[in-house]
Amino acid sequence: MKTREQLTDLISQMTLQEKIDMVHGNELFATKAVERLGIPAFRSSDGPRGVRKEFEKDTWKDIGLTFDYTSYLPCNTALAATWNRELARSTGQILGKEARGRGKDMILAPGINIMRTPLCGRSFEYMGEDPHLAGELAVELVQGIEEYDVSSCLKHFAANNQEVRRLDVDVEVSERALREIYFPAFEAAVTRGKAKGVMGAYNKLRGTHCCHNEYLLKQVLRDEWGFEGIVVSDWGGVHSTKEAMENGLDMEMSVTNNFDEYYMANPLKEAIEKGEYPIELLDEKIMHILTVMNELHMLDGERKSGSYNDIEDKQALRRTAEESIVLLKNEESILPLDAKKIKRLLVVGENANRRQAPGGGSAEIKALYEITPLLGLHMLLGGNTEITYHPGYYNMDIGNIWANTGDGENGQADSIDASVEPKKKTTPEEKKALEEKMNAKYLAEVLEEAKTADAVIYVGGLTHDYDTEGQDRADMKLPYGQDKLICELLHVRPDTVVTLLAGSPVDMSAWLDKAQTVCLHWYAGMEGGYALAEALFGRINPSGHLPETFPIHESDCPAVVLGEYPGGDKVRYGEDIFVGYRYYDTYEVKTAFPFGYGLSYTDFVMSGLQAVVSEANRVQVSFCISNVGDRAGADVAQIYVSDKFPKVKKASKELKAFEKVYLEPGETKKITLQLDERAFMYYDEKKGCFRVEPGTYSILLAKSAEEIVDVAEVVIA
Ligand code: BGC
Repeated sequence: MKTREQLTDLISQMTLQEKIDMVHGNELFATKAVERLGIPAFRSSDGPRGVRKEFEKDTWKDIGLTFDYTSYLPCNTALAATWNRELARSTGQILGKEARGRGKDMILAPGINIMRTPLCGRSFEYMGEDPHLAGELAVELVQGIEEYDVSSCLKHFAANNQEVRRLDVDVEVSERALREIYFPAFEAAVTRGKAKGVMGAYNKLRGTHCCHNEYLLKQVLRDEWGFEGIVVSDWGGVHSTKEAMENGLDMEMSVTNNFDEYYMANPLKEAIEKGEYPIELLDEKIMHILTVMNELHMLDGERKSGSYNDIEDKQALRRTAEESIVLLKNEESILPLDAKKIKRLLVVGENANRRQAPGGGSAEIKALYEITPLLGLHMLLGGNTEITYHPGYYNMDIGNIWANTGDGENGQADSIDASVEPKKKTTPEEKKALEEKMNAKYLAEVLEEAKTADAVIYVGGLTHDYDTEGQDRADMKLPYGQDKLICELLHVRPDTVVTLLAGSPVDMSAWLDKAQTVCLHWYAGMEGGYALAEALFGRINPSGHLPETFPIHESDCPAVVLGEYPGGDKVRYGEDIFVGYRYYDTYEVKTAFPFGYGLSYTDFVMSGLQAVVSEANRVQVSFCISNVGDRAGADVAQIYVSDKFPKVKKASKELKAFEKVYLEPGETKKITLQLDERAFMYYDEKKGCFRVEPGTYSILLAKSAEEIVDVAEVVIA
């Protein structure tokens, strides 16, 4: 590795043009090398679910390689649903190894924005609604990625919580909500995870675009959190040379191929030549980039090589998919199904047979393979069960702004041009008429088949026509007329196993009370379909828990009730710190399923909670957890903190620690967790810092935000 002096010396040898080349894209996903001085180009790739396919250097045309198929990883919501730090670490390691294997220097992941509204199209790329859960997992992911001499890139910093007007919406949010809700996952990933990259968001915060927002990039990120890595813009997120130069951006990337005209290209060079900015300001940015390159061993030939599609990694990906499955309802213990008793299985629902990897926007993946639920069921059941599949509802892939333009080009360049109409293959009216016609036909067929099947599994939910970059959902309803189909199916077969694949909450109110069994799975990666089959047939015991509240209806959501969503030019976060369960809980609003919720095929008992305060307001929490059922399984013990007599407004409880615990039947484990002082702090806007309000706090041991099993009290000084 080079010393800082050597890097300074390197900078002193560079011409202005060479410096300029390093701070902006010269390809869609790379800067230009300074070959003369042995400084390579800096290559990045999306993204959160694996390494993206290769595009041409200057167009969004898929090159069509046969060797850029990669692992398709579970989306971040799935990962968050595991509540398992070890799996976040292994997912990061696979992502880092594959990024390196594909020759990348920075992987544009993880996405860690907080889910402010269930309708946000990119929720599936993020880790739910709680800053502590997202932060804990982000730290592991980042460290896993960076083990392979690849930089992570935390995105999108900050307050990037909707796709409606994503390029220019101006977020108005209190300092306290930023500090307590929207920042902590970024803060943890920077201060503890030591992330080497951060991506500025498209939106504005308090009037200034996040990619050149001095408060975010200089004051918070660099000065307060000590970030030493690279701040890269979102693609096309820069709007001013001056602001980008002065307010903390290091590298400008965009979606167009006029590379020399980028704000940080010729316009910056000319301004420097005119003396508008001191060269030292540019040198600072070069130092950030060289520091990361140096740490990634890009300058010394000592760099780790990666690899991709390793067989052994598939096991880890399968485990993550398995642990992400959330059992929401299982009355009459319909699940797990017994394969020996099922000679004829009917599988209904187009998601059973749909590959999800290619969708979603920049999170798309050219997967080496993807086991769909239907394939997974076939693989698991083998030759003794006859499986009949029926799509059940008609899903006409409507296409959206990201759809292929027909000449092999991906629509990403258009996606940041508000004047370009989404490329719909058909009008909404045509779509509706066709859907109704086909659905009526399908429904009659399905109901007939359902009468004679030994078991019926429904696999529906959302697709990346809905969970996607560039647009939010209009509501939480299941698309493609699924509610009607599920209702009718449950009428004929009340024992239908309803499974939903989605990256964000859906409204189940049309049929939830009639369903005996509901199981939620996500865009869970290339092994996802097999994991689902394993869960339904009891090969594994579901242990996923919701990383986000499932409200009954989108109009219940705090962003709508107390704040604004989607807003206009501005969006006011009037709900303040009351995001997700912090709102539903404090304001006593009924939910469909609470944050942290998830069932198992076995039963767990948690008891004996003790909380002991030591120096500096550190609290040691201990309790016992037992598996009192007859199957091995895992539960998530959740520790919430509640201020008994708050003098300032506070959520009635906040998650501050958690542990996923594996137990054999009859086994008991004693668990000890530590809370540090920050767990008892709130952000005092007047003083401009986190602060403890001395007093009595309840420590709640819980199975979800709504199921408290034990309470202890501590006095915090
Ligand atoms: C997205 C980013 C992505 C970038 C590069 C943008 O449209 O917002 O998340 O990393 O494109 O593809």
